[in-house]
Parts: sequence; C-alpha cells; structure tokens
Amino acid sequence: MRHPSGQFRYIDPPFQFNSPEIAAYPVEVTGFHLLSSLRQRLGWNSLAGKRLLDFGCGVRFARTIHNLDIDIGSYTGIDVNAQAIAWLANNADDPRFRFEHFDMRNEMYNAGGETVEDRNVLQRRGFSEFDAACMFSVITHQAPADAQTIFALLYETVRARGQLYFTAFTDDGVDQYREGDPALPCILSTYHPEYLRQLVSSAGWNVEEIYPKTNMQQTAFVCRK
Ligand SMILES: C[S@@+](CC[C@H](N)C(=O)[O-])C[C@H]1O[C@@H](n2cnc3c(N)ncnc32)[C@H](O)[C@@H]1O
Repeated sequence: MRHPSGQFRYIDPPFQFNSPEIAAYPVEVTGFHLLSSLRQRLGWNSLAGKRLLDFGCGVRFARTIHNLDIDIGSYTGIDVNAQAIAWLANNADDPRFRFEHFDMRNEMYNAGGETVEDRNVLQRRGFSEFDAACMFSVITHQAPADAQTIFALLYETVRARGQLYFTAFTDDGVDQYREGDPALPCILSTYHPEYLRQLVSSAGWNVEEIYPKTNMQQTAFVCRK
C-alpha cells in the first residue's frame, strides 16, 4: 500500500490456506482474479466505496488489496485462525481494514471451537451494513448445519438488498451432502446444488445466480437479501 510518506510497504503473511494447484500461482494473481470475478458477478463496476465482509478470510484478499493498493471502501476479515487474524491486525495497518477472530467450531479448522446458535452474534459485534459478504473455499469445508448457521449469520450483517457470494463443492450425483473422505471430516464437503440452495434460502437469502466451476474457483452462488 502507498504510505502517505510515499514509501511502498509490502506485506507477506506467513500463512498458506489454498490448495496446491491454486498456491502454484502468486497470491496476488489469484487474489486479483477472484476479486475481479466477485466484483463482476455482484454487478459492481468497481470495488471503490464498497464495504466487503470476507468470512473465513485467510490472508489472500488482505494481502492482495494491500500490496496492489486496490481501491475499496472497506475490507473486513473474519476467521477461526487466531494467529492469522492477529498477524493481519498487526501488520496490515490500513484504516479500511478490520480483522476479527471468531471461535466457531469446525471439524477441520477449529475442532475445539464453540457451537454457534445465535444468528445475530456477528451483528452484535458490530458487523453490519456491508454491501456484500463473501466466502471463498469456506462452505467447501462445512457440514450442512454449520453452513446453514453461517448463511444466517451473514444475512444479518449485510444492508437491505445486500449480497452474498460463496463457492462450494457441488455434484448433481450427490444425495444432498457427502464428505469426500469420512476419515477427514470437512476436508471435501460436497453438496447437491439444489440442497445447498435450500440451505441458503432457509436463512433468508434469494439465490440469484449459480456459476459453474472454473479452473480458479468452485461453483459460485450469488445471493441477495
Ligand atoms: C481454504 S481456506 C480459504 C481462505 C480464504 N477464503 C481464501 O480463499 O484464500 C478456509 C478458511 O476458512 C476458515 N474457516 C473455516 N471455518 C470457519 C468458520 N466457521 N468461521 C470462520 N472461519 C472459518 C479457515 O480458518 C480458513 O482460513
């Protein structure tokens, strides 16, 4: 990011959350590609002025927005990984950024975390009025009850007519939901697209578009409040 002093400051978070095929590319390349795809699919001309909430943020978009000096209204990242969140909060010092740890239980990423039942818990922590919430490779690692909880949490964080963008492993041949490897729960949580549509709709969202998988992202759902 360009500092007022004119100095360029590069951040290089020491975390890697992406699959080997994706991590083969420089982080800013996949980050820029996915942010552009999100922008286009949400119907935005630009990210300028937009308030984006990234649930299960990892470090990729913070790094991309910071190092490429992308014009965005604000970027808020939430994750169960306390170390990554602390690193970003300490190193990506940009007034447009906010990073918060969220201790929700997930079989793969946070087995000792808490069971979340209250759909307003994020809103009460001050996460509200976002133009959109997004999740890249997060529902890909959630059992149905947790996916449904997350969809409800995010519904409460966006403004009226706000949007939701998320990617998921989908397979028409799956009966509702299946784990790719039962020995490693949530490593490959795969859904029948209609079942996933039901889950997201039951949280209040209207599914407006479903985009097929590309070489850079899984099946993507665009929803509106
Ligand atoms: C495959 S990584 C993707 C990271 C990032 N979205 C990206 O595309 O680079 C999945 C991320 O989701 C986070 N995560 C999984 N379950 C979560 C939950 N219930 N709440 C918040 N974060 C979660 C993990 O800690 C991890 O950072």
